[in-house]
Formats: sequence, structure tokens, C-alpha cells
Amino acid sequence: MKKMKVLVIGSGGREHALTWKIKQSPLVEKIFCAPGNAGTDSIAENVPNLNSVKDLADFAQKNKIDLTVVGPENFLVEGIVDFFEKKNLKCFGPRKNAAVLEGSKVFCREFLKKFKIPMPDFKVFSSPDEATEFVKKNSPIVIKADGLAAGKGVIVAKTPDEAVEAVETIMVNKKFGNSGEKILCEEMLEGEEASYIVFSDGKNFVPMASSQDHKRIFDNDKGPNTGGMGAYSPAPIVSKEVEEKILKKIIKPTIRAMYENNREFKGILYAGLMIKNNEPKLIEFNCRFGDPEAQAVLPRFESDIVELMLSCIEGNLSKYEAKWSNNACTTVVLASGGYPENYEKNKKITGLKEAGLIQNATVFHAGTKKENEKILTSGGRVLNVSALGENISESIKTAYTAVEKIHFDKMFYRKDIGKKALVKL
Ligand code: AMP
Ligand code: GLY
Repeated sequence: MKKMKVLVIGSGGREHALTWKIKQSPLVEKIFCAPGNAGTDSIAENVPNLNSVKDLADFAQKNKIDLTVVGPENFLVEGIVDFFEKKNLKCFGPRKNAAVLEGSKVFCREFLKKFKIPMPDFKVFSSPDEATEFVKKNSPIVIKADGLAAGKGVIVAKTPDEAVEAVETIMVNKKFGNSGEKILCEEMLEGEEASYIVFSDGKNFVPMASSQDHKRIFDNDKGPNTGGMGAYSPAPIVSKEVEEKILKKIIKPTIRAMYENNREFKGILYAGLMIKNNEPKLIEFNCRFGDPEAQAVLPRFESDIVELMLSCIEGNLSKYEAKWSNNACTTVVLASGGYPENYEKNKKITGLKEAGLIQNATVFHAGTKKENEKILTSGGRVLNVSALGENISESIKTAYTAVEKIHFDKMFYRKDIGKKALVKL
């Protein structure tokens, strides 16, 4: 059989991990990454300056790409899959009318409410005055911009003042532009968060292993939210019993409801969950892999991911069997001083080779670039060090052993990734 050419879209740690996993497939001959980073550069060919869906489709057509894999949500929400399909190009992910589960938080809540998916109570506002009146009386409250906001459109307001300020930031000052025309005000859930991700062909699905992100910047979940400072898989909070509830009450009814409403969800469905007393509630759906969850989940995945993606596209997942390693995986994110606010770039990174030599450890790049044979920082989240181990404790140890080999000016990282999982053992 002729081997495939694959295009991976994105530049983060998730995309390096996806590229690394795709590279292991015997079905694949060549991988391009648009734009990729210094990590993908060593296993694929990076292609800069493909900035629009049209640029990407033109590239895919010209280079006879057999499969395009989209890392980040923005292109999916914009409708890249629909555009590629019209040109007879295979693109893995949901179409626009399904990616809306992530693209509009208001749509997601209003649509799923009809199907009794467990989630927080919520109210939708399009008038800032009405929203202000409501939040003043109902804090603590979680306030969310309806549309995409690069992971920054959610404000957990503990006091009425914080809540009023959040409404002003989103609706009056329009910090997230049109994404803030409507807002969602929802009940603040308590409990522990976990991520549950499945690959779907529209009707059937294959679950990935459970995982847990660490969203806050500092140890012990202190400080502002980030894109994610580390992850581990599996997440012990997702016990067999909890997993069954997630599947029965959240994943299955959502995939069925989408199908029955002509919004067939093909691709990666990511459920962000809050779990309390063994009851999961849906915080949000995303239409793509998590970052850094991908870096902790994919090293444990022992099947061919390209075969899995093709089965999703072709609609024959029911025959697919995924193999998983019993090992645990921990991923530590190395960030640049100042992140998640302003941070410096162009710092020289050393020790990558030494870290890569640690058995069972893999370094996935995120905000990195190559210049004159040197690897420099180019983003806030710079690197992800993932390590497999017989159990969580071993994987944590190995991950931090590898982390200690790496250095760049003002590098920092959380020292407690995986700690919550240890407490439960
Ligand atoms: P999201 O972008 O929707 O994942 O939200 C970012 C973070 O805000 C989540 O990971 C939670 O920590 C928090 N969050 C969002 N919605 C709620 C909620 N209803 N209750 C408590 N925390 C929430
Ligand atoms: N790790 C959170 C996310 O990918 O949305």
C-alpha cells in the first residue's frame, strides 16, 4: 500500500506529541507541520506562513497530503474540515456545526440541557446591565465569554465586585471582541477536575485514558489560570465507577444528540469535568486534544493513531480496538518567567540532549524555535517533559530527573505535578 503524507496543524506541545505519535505509524511516509516548532523540526518538515484555512488547503492539495490533523480549536471552529471536504481532502476533526460545542459555550449549555447532561445551573445574558444586576446578587459565580478567547474567557468571581468587573471586562470593554457579545453566568462547582477525551466517528467512540491537567500557575493550585502547567494519566479520581457515569451520562448522550440533530461529531471530543462524591459534571467540551493532556496520554497509547483517525473519518470505529500501556505518565511544563502574562523570548535552552537520554523520558517542545543550530525559547509554555513509569510515583520521579537537566534563563515549573494522584493511592 502506498504510504501516506500527513499534515499536522499547530505549534504547541500537543502538536509535537501528535507528530511524534503519528511518526510511529507504519502507514506514514512523511509529515509536515504548519508551523510546528523546534521539536517537530527534528521529526517532520516545518512549513511556516500558512496562516489561513485556504493557505492550508492549497498546501495540502499541492503536496498531495493524504490526512490533515488539526491541533488547535480555532481552525476547527472556523470550519476547516468543511472546507477541506469540499476539496476532497481528508481532515481529521469535527465539522463547523459540531465544533460549535467548543466554539459557543452558550450553544453547548443550551443544547445539552435538553438532554439532561449533568452540568452547573446557568443563565445567559446579552445585556451588560441585566448581567450586572444578576451577578451582583449571585456571587460566587463563574462568568464566561460565549466564544473562543484563547483559554482566557473564564472568570471565577468569588465576590460581587469581582463578578461586576468580569461582566465589564467581557461585555463592555470587549476584551475578547465578539466572543463576549453573550455571556454565560454559571454556578461555581466544587470538587476535583479531570479530563476525559474520546475519539468519535460520529456514532461510536474510543475513549483515551483519563488524565488531569494542572491549570494554575503555582504549586498547590495557587495563582492565575494558565493553558496548563502539567498533567498526568491515568487520573485516579476517574475510578471505574466514575468512568461508567461519564460514559453513560455525558459522552454517550452527547454523541447521540449531536448525531440525531445533524451535527455528527467526528474527531476528538474532550470533556472537562468536575467530580464530587463520585458524580461527574460537565464544565466544558472541547473539540480537540487537550494541551498538556496529549503529552501525558499519547505516550501510553500503544495502537496506531493514524489508523484510529482514519477509522473515525470513515465511520468504522466499532471494529477498532485500542491498546494501552499499564504504565503511568507524568508531564511537567517548563515555562518562561512572567508567563501567563508577558514573558521574555529568545533565551537559549540547554540540556535537551541530556534530558532525552533519561530512560522513559521524552521532551516535547512547545514555544521553541531553531536559529543557527541553537534552540531558543519563543513562547510562554516552552517545553513539556513527559515520563512513563510503572506507577505515578515512578513517572513523577523520572520526569523531574529529566527536568533538572534542562535550563534556560528564568525557566520555572511546578514542583507538585501528580501530587494529587499520589494522595489517592
Ligand atoms: P474552561 O475554559 O471552561 O475550561 O474553564 C477554565 C477553568 O475555570 C476550569 O478548568 C475550571 O477550573 C474553572 N471553571 C469553569 N467553569 C466552572 C464552574 N462552573 N465551576 C467551577 N469552576 C469552573
Ligand atoms: N489543558 C486544557 C485544554 O487543553 O483546554
